[in-house]
Amino acid sequence: MQSKEEQIRLSIQRRIRSIDDSLTFVDEYYSFKYRIYQVEKDNIQYTLKIFDPEYGVGGYMPLINESKALEILADVPEYPNLIKKYHNHFDNKIAILKEYCKGESLEQSGKIITYKPLKKRVANAVQIAHERGLARLDLMPRNLILNSNERDAKILDLGAVLFRTENNKYADFAAEKTSDFQVLRDFIFS
Ligand SMILES: Nc1ncnc2c1ncn2[C@@H]1O[C@H](COP(=O)(O)OP(=O)(O)O)[C@@H](O)[C@H]1O
Ligand SMILES: [Mg+2]
Repeated sequence: MQSKEEQIRLSIQRRIRSIDDSLTFVDEYYSFKYRIYQVEKDNIQYTLKIFDPEYGVGGYMPLINESKALEILADVPEYPNLIKKYHNHFDNKIAILKEYCKGESLEQSGKIITYKPLKKRVANAVQIAHERGLARLDLMPRNLILNSNERDAKILDLGAVLFRTENNKYADFAAEKTSDFQVLRDFIFS
């Protein structure tokens, strides 16, 4: 007889294998829009974020946008690397495999970023996104991971991103840039 926990574990492992059968389940995160798992392959940890039409709300576009944004920011260390994209046309499941970021979110720890060089790097990472046509970075304590020595941080979750276009570049895009920096000042740095 399998225990309830084992059954749940096996069903999560099956769900993960249906996306990529080389990944092993390690842990799960809470999300009401996605299924988000810490997974492992060849002793390396990753984060698998799945949009499942049977479960998620809000459609799959945020996940497509997040993967586009991560590609644009691939060389900036404050954003997780995008490892792989999956689209299962059979059941319309969309998923991305990202770098696993060690540490705790600012929401979990209740901390803020105080280390000056890191403040600079995070502000710079935000500015680079803006220069590359990405704003509304959803910079909230839940979406920033600070590592345990508080010297490195990662900006997660670019699902709300606004891409700069000819139509929005003067008003909407500029307003979102301003609000990104405001949130940094109000919730992330102080
Ligand atoms: N790459 C990652 N590394 C470590 N933890 C992650 C990663 N991506 C997501 N998480 C964890 O999962 C939580 C939810 O992920 P997120 O992408 O922000 O989705 P949601 O749309 O539900 O906010 C995060 O707050 C974080 O705790
Ligand atoms: Mg989030």
